[in-house]
Amino acid sequence: MSTEAPVSSARSVTNIDSMLKEKRVFKPSAKFTREARIGSFKKYKKMHKASLKNPDKFWGKAAEELSWFRKWRKVCVWKPPFAEWFVGGKLNASVNCLDRHLEGPSRNKAALIFEGEPGDVVTLTYQQLHREVCLMANVLKKHGVKTGDRVMIYLPMIPEAVIAMLACARIGAPHSVVFSGFSAEALKERTNDCGAKVIITADGGFRRGTALAVKRNVDEALLGTPKVKAVIVVQRTKQDVNMAPGRDFWLHDEVQKVSAVCKPEALDSEHPLFILYTSGSTGKPKGILHTTAGYLLGCHLTTKYYFDLRPEDVYFCTADVGWITGHSYVAYGVLSNGGTSLIYEGAPNFPEPDRFWRIIDRHKVNIFYTAPTAIRSFIKWGDDWLARHDLSSLRLLGSVGEPINPEAWMWYHEKVGGKRCPIVDTWWQTETGAHMIAPIPGATPLKPGSATLPFFGVDAAVVDDNGEETAPNVGGKLVIRRPWPSMLRSIYGDAARYRKTYWSEVKGCYFAGDGARRDKDGYFWIVGRIDDVLNVAGHRLGTSEVESALVSHPDIAEAAVVGRPDELKGQAVVAFVTLKNGVPHSNNLKESLRAHVAKEIGPIAKPDDIRFTDALPKTRSGKIMRRLLKEAAASPTGDIKGDITTLEDLTVLAKLKQTEE
Ligand code: PRX
Repeated sequence: MSTEAPVSSARSVTNIDSMLKEKRVFKPSAKFTREARIGSFKKYKKMHKASLKNPDKFWGKAAEELSWFRKWRKVCVWKPPFAEWFVGGKLNASVNCLDRHLEGPSRNKAALIFEGEPGDVVTLTYQQLHREVCLMANVLKKHGVKTGDRVMIYLPMIPEAVIAMLACARIGAPHSVVFSGFSAEALKERTNDCGAKVIITADGGFRRGTALAVKRNVDEALLGTPKVKAVIVVQRTKQDVNMAPGRDFWLHDEVQKVSAVCKPEALDSEHPLFILYTSGSTGKPKGILHTTAGYLLGCHLTTKYYFDLRPEDVYFCTADVGWITGHSYVAYGVLSNGGTSLIYEGAPNFPEPDRFWRIIDRHKVNIFYTAPTAIRSFIKWGDDWLARHDLSSLRLLGSVGEPINPEAWMWYHEKVGGKRCPIVDTWWQTETGAHMIAPIPGATPLKPGSATLPFFGVDAAVVDDNGEETAPNVGGKLVIRRPWPSMLRSIYGDAARYRKTYWSEVKGCYFAGDGARRDKDGYFWIVGRIDDVLNVAGHRLGTSEVESALVSHPDIAEAAVVGRPDELKGQAVVAFVTLKNGVPHSNNLKESLRAHVAKEIGPIAKPDDIRFTDALPKTRSGKIMRRLLKEAAASPTGDIKGDITTLEDLTVLAKLKQTEE
């Protein structure tokens, strides 16, 4: 999620006191280093330095890895805060993801492996995926979609979600994917904001053993979307749905009526590829606009270097296509590299909490990319679920979405990765399009909890309120000091908001909304959104550091920390904690947690109030909704025993807040 407005100086994060000091360092294994693309830390540093010295040279050379109809004239034109990349070039993202892999043996290699929640498996080779994409592209054309027209995609995690994105890309129709767990209202708002005239959806999808009513939400949204002329419906669950004659069309009927040949459009480098909505805590969602060449290059290169993707790998990213991760690292980055992307439709704990381990074992997954929130659930569910499966095919693990607590990192490293897999902790955003800060596997020494160092061409820094770089271990604002190819180009239809939100806080810099510090080795430690910073008795503390300390206690599965106004200290620390299965609530445990935090960070960070809860209110993408917790923490009732119910209410509340992600 992104911050809405630039933060005021009253909430500045200069001098966040960073007290949690993680000392463990994990050097890349000799085996990984031997085979890696970038085989030493020295080489990474040299390449990074050169990329910053002459970015046009670096990006120009990198862009030769893409397939072009016409080469660009100029690598970058920068009229702050608006960038154009590969000016004058012409290409097509679907050609890069499909057609160019049809020429050799890779045409018969798996592009997509789909596992449905009921256990059904569909594998599409590059050739088969290409055919499906051409068919769907022709169906869109038949319904009047032209280059530049926007198309909504509201689908569960089924192959058609990827097919639909690439079909849009093929004809130059910018897509806007809306997470199928979002409400009718959210779909309506986004559809109207971008003025789409076609929606691609499904009858439903399987989740926790039941068929979700996806099409029903579309029907409701359509009551308020006057521009939508056609709805293309994928049949997934075969449940009864309403099909309005002349408006709703089954995809399986429509593909019978069109050709399987669809010539790709030769599109300008800056042609819009998609609009993805992301919401802040206030205001209407922002339509983050990404264009073709720069975005694709960012996804392509980061997938290659950070996931070390090889032709023989099975790569499994657990993100839904409704999020940027599902765009960049389920679809575009993996397919442009000719990789095999495994997607899974359902819940991680259906029918039992070992579903992901079962999938890894069944399909012999080599690369696994998930989020800390999922990792903490796995920890809570217990190690026994992993022990039942052979995870030895795994060779690399990834993490995304929020800071990974060092203890969760250690668990991931030991229990999932068998101590042999590098963990690539990737810091980036919907707005950045591709990874920005992450370790190069086989080259960068890892420190649990740190996303480590920036990607090539990325000039990241931690600065104070005056834009000056902070000293080692002094917190500040995480900024990017120059444009990069996969950066957002604007907020759809609102260039003024784009400028104000991202480019007005720190002069000349893109401000990401996150607080961070760099250690003496220059490693970045993200301490969370800067509006999540606590100020306790004059000390600024990152909530994620206190959370990490709590999670390092053996009884704790998950923790969320918020501030509560306090007359004496400015803010008091309130911790909501979820215990591991079978651990009873007790006052003794509260005391032991306080002592533990005091030991890990210092007495200043000791929670004033600890509340046990079975679940934390989360956004749809798994981020903890601290705003709701803050309200709960500040409520005068103060009766700790009643908190479980309160939180359950909050969870419901969170689900109802459809503008939240
Ligand atoms: O606060 C950072 C956090 O997620 C935000 C971006 O959220 P979104 O646009 O939804 O994209 C999520 C997928 C990239 C960031 O501003 N974040 C993301 N990855 C990390 C992270 N925080 C710490 N470490 C990460 N690896």
